[in-house]
Amino acid sequence: MQHDDLLFNLISQERDRQRRGIELIASENFVSEDVMSAMGSVLTNKYAEGYPGKRYYGGCEVVDKVEELARQRLKQLYGAEYVNVQPHSGAQANMAVFMACLKAGDKFLGLNLSHGGHLSHGSPVNFSGIMFHALEYNVREEDGRVDYEQLQERALAERPKIIIAGASAYSREWDYARIRRVADEIGAIFMVDMAHPAGLIAAGLLDNPLKYAHIVTSTTHKTLRGPRGGVILMGKDFPNPWGKTTPKGEIKMMSSLLDSAVFPGTQGGPLEHVIAAKAVAFGEALQPQFKLYQEQVKKNAATMAQAFIDKGYKIISGGTDNHCMLLDLRTKLPELTGKEAEKALVAADITTNKNMVPFDSRSPFQTSGLRFGTPAITTRGLTENDMTLIVELIDRVLLSHNSDAVIAQVKAEVNRMMQDRPLFAW
Ligand SMILES: Cc1ncc(COP(=O)(O)O)c(C=O)c1O
Repeated sequence: MQHDDLLFNLISQERDRQRRGIELIASENFVSEDVMSAMGSVLTNKYAEGYPGKRYYGGCEVVDKVEELARQRLKQLYGAEYVNVQPHSGAQANMAVFMACLKAGDKFLGLNLSHGGHLSHGSPVNFSGIMFHALEYNVREEDGRVDYEQLQERALAERPKIIIAGASAYSREWDYARIRRVADEIGAIFMVDMAHPAGLIAAGLLDNPLKYAHIVTSTTHKTLRGPRGGVILMGKDFPNPWGKTTPKGEIKMMSSLLDSAVFPGTQGGPLEHVIAAKAVAFGEALQPQFKLYQEQVKKNAATMAQAFIDKGYKIISGGTDNHCMLLDLRTKLPELTGKEAEKALVAADITTNKNMVPFDSRSPFQTSGLRFGTPAITTRGLTENDMTLIVELIDRVLLSHNSDAVIAQVKAEVNRMMQDRPLFAW
């Protein structure tokens, strides 16, 4: 068979793009070479519908051990009692929880998408908003933090079956205990989607939602620095949201509902090569260096947010407790849209994404904001001093977003800065 030069040339172009640029997309990271090798291994050849020990195919002895290893490591990482490592993505994990806990048309309550929530928490164009009755809570306009009072009011008035905490663009710690109290008041399931801060949580730098939530979902590819994928977890003190039977029986009941909702409910064969890569990433996250990495992610984000503020930009909520921040362009550059800003920055090899800011006056296609995150650049070894310089470069591009000359100059500086930075951390 002929080598596919066309395709492999494209991969090599993408590798160059990743190597030479400053990657500030808050949901991205660079995995280790071991994670990559596991993903590109012979495990991709194996069908393994079902779960370890209960498969619908022969020849699963090895992949059973692979999946079991991933499960054990994930349990250890978060102190979980139950895990499912098969969801193909974060949205698939969320879909499985909905399938296990709701009937079509049932109500659930999540953070408004334009206030930082995720598509799979009730957007009208997503399964969550199409099949179920999505209700939303906001952040407060004055300080950009979750409006817990509004959340409580909506929950008591509407009595949703699930309340979701977690977001795609929210830079503050969550008051999980407070939401849990609201959920208990109405007998709702409290679900946390920790996709974004999962790595910081694993390192013990943010509160662990498994202490409060009935069910936790996550992606594995953001701060957690694993392959693209999803997981579902439940904590040790999982209480039965329907108030039946003993604690041991309860967790068994919910775990089998969740397992069936993943397979056969919403997926077919698991991606055992990706599950193997998840196992590698969980193993890495259990090592002491991972905590140092996450501490640096946090320090870098705090320094970056402050540097933006020092330059006259507004950061929603005035800073960050985690790895990301949301910049409102309207204070310093009211005419500039997030769309134009993203385009100019990408031309300078600084990759970020336009984002709605809470109470945005522009559409999701234009937006007034940009989202930044530090997991990827921290993996490449950048530290606090580099953050101040990066903000300087971003500011130069934004102030002269129509100038090809300025963009070319900044791009040259970006490429110089990144040329000796390894792409792989381990
Ligand atoms: C909070 C949250 N949940 C779920 C997802 C979905 O993950 P995936 O893209 O793997 O489906 C994302 C992705 O950005 C997210 O931010």
